[in-house]
Amino acid sequence: MARRRLNSSNAAETELPKAKLNKQTLNNISRLVAYIKPYRGMFIAALGFLFLSSLVGLAFPSFIGALIDTAQGKHKGGILPGTIKGILILAFSVLFLQGFVSFFRILWFVNVAERSLADIRRDTYFKLITLPMNFFSNRRVGELNSRISADLSQIQDTLTTTIAEMIRQSVLLVGGVIFMAIISIKLALAMLILVPPLIVVAIFFGRFIRKISRQAQDKLAESNTVIEETLQGIANVKAFVNEAFEAARYGKNIREVADIAIKGAKYRGMFVSFIVFCMFGAIVAIVGYACTLVNSHEITVGDLLKFALYAAFMGSAMGSFPDLYANVQKAVGASERVLEILDEKGEEVSIREIDNVIRQKIEGNLSFSNVGFAYPSRPEVEVLKDVSFDAAAGQRVAIVGPSGSGKSTMAALILQFYHPQSGTILFDGKPSSDYSLTDIRNQVAIVPQDVMLFGGSIFENIAYGKLTASKDEIMQAAQRANAHQFITSFPEGYETIVGERGVKLSGGQRQRVAIARALLKNPSILILDEATSSLDSESERLVQEALEELMKDRTSIIIAHRLSTIREADKIIVLEKGKIIESGSHLELISNEQGLYRYLSGLQFEVG
Ligand SMILES: Nc1ncnc2c1ncn2[C@@H]1O[C@H](COP(=O)(O)OP(=O)(O)O)[C@@H](O)[C@H]1O
Ligand SMILES: [Mg+2]
Repeated sequence: MARRRLNSSNAAETELPKAKLNKQTLNNISRLVAYIKPYRGMFIAALGFLFLSSLVGLAFPSFIGALIDTAQGKHKGGILPGTIKGILILAFSVLFLQGFVSFFRILWFVNVAERSLADIRRDTYFKLITLPMNFFSNRRVGELNSRISADLSQIQDTLTTTIAEMIRQSVLLVGGVIFMAIISIKLALAMLILVPPLIVVAIFFGRFIRKISRQAQDKLAESNTVIEETLQGIANVKAFVNEAFEAARYGKNIREVADIAIKGAKYRGMFVSFIVFCMFGAIVAIVGYACTLVNSHEITVGDLLKFALYAAFMGSAMGSFPDLYANVQKAVGASERVLEILDEKGEEVSIREIDNVIRQKIEGNLSFSNVGFAYPSRPEVEVLKDVSFDAAAGQRVAIVGPSGSGKSTMAALILQFYHPQSGTILFDGKPSSDYSLTDIRNQVAIVPQDVMLFGGSIFENIAYGKLTASKDEIMQAAQRANAHQFITSFPEGYETIVGERGVKLSGGQRQRVAIARALLKNPSILILDEATSSLDSESERLVQEALEELMKDRTSIIIAHRLSTIREADKIIVLEKGKIIESGSHLELISNEQGLYRYLSGLQFEVG
């Protein structure tokens, strides 16, 4: 059930599942509470003010009671003044104080909640984007998104209002009972014996009725799918002359809806009768008893009114607890899911480093040594089998092979998105594990087939390759990437907004932006994963030129299925079903009459 809800497209709007409250879950919540720590001074002050304002709220009935008693000339002294004017002045002063205190407790509560939540959001987001690639292949982006939005909103709600409300209602409940007992212990006992059990019964009864009406709604939704299905497949219904069958199916469903609704009405009727008779009956009985106490001068009319107000406090506090409790349960569930992300093991990337310093330089020698790999999500399918090759610094190595043969997987392994189950990937002769993840990724660049640009200016998109780059550096990179010309042809030039809400760039233009990005990054190892395969021949020429510029003085791994682009490569590796079946120069490979390379190039050059 929980999973289905999370997977639904608008998870943010659907009701979040609740969690059981026990030691483990409370322990979890307390870990999130650690986020409040930096703001604990303010939090404690807010709690204090909350407590104070709730206490002051308890004074309100006393003022009303005292006013009425004083009006009847029955003032009993005590701490309250003896005149109406005196009581009014005091009451207004107290109300003013309460207003003041309430303002700050709300301000402070929200302050603490929002700030600590911003911290939780930041950490969760950072954890999310530093999780290994494999994490993402197992989960849908929508689900992850909903964790950050819906789950954290629930926690926020609980922090800002539910906790405060629970404390306030508890103070009102306990204080109310104490004050009632002070007014008259007999009356208080009578009240406590009668009313709370009734409230508990009413709460459970109410819930039961809600459950039934939800059943009716579900059933109705089910019958609506019958309509939907038959209308969509109306041609089938008619062709098979199944109108009567469908009508009977729908009729049966609809009768069930009616049955459930009628059953619900029976309970609702009982509920209303119960409320009318028992609840109001109890109230009448207590008021009757109170009046006999007034008659016998045990309490005053002012006391009676005071008592009634405290009783109302108590009743509304009791009534609010189930919802508050449910809210806490939801927040516990939400924090469990958020903690699940925070507890995942992320990749080692520092949250502070923006300038991407390289600690261990890679010259550009790259080797695969007996690499075997299966994606963790499909461990039974071996995608790469015993793959070995060397690319010396500055060399161009092409990888060719049919689609699905594992070329892009090799690129992913070089970038350390995944790690091989057997064999090693070596940089400058040292295994990849000798390097930090960021050192490798900072010195490897990839230009993929489909370049994704971020919403923002072209300038920012190029700067993504080196966040600290100057304007000059960026223009220079754009020039070298054959991109300067088309960029300056836009009225806004480098400030042109691209991405979903901006100018749509053509595939070749996006490619050249990506090449400029890679030029700025200035990697030792460059991977081109079918970088020109989806371009028309005109933009292919411009992109190809830019790529030539980019490939200068670095190791280039060129993945291609169009073989014309790789003839000049120092070495060509032919991959089939995850295995290297041939390798050598173009001339060597083409001279092998039985080879796959010759076969493939025969096919392509005939057509092209
Ligand atoms: N993230 C992934 N999870 C599981 N299997 C994958 C994943 N990516 C690719 N594969 C599988 O790995 C094999 C090789 O894919 P890929 O390296 O993309 O091939 P190529 O780039 O040569 O077309 C394919 O069978 C593909 O279905
Ligand atoms: Mg591919």
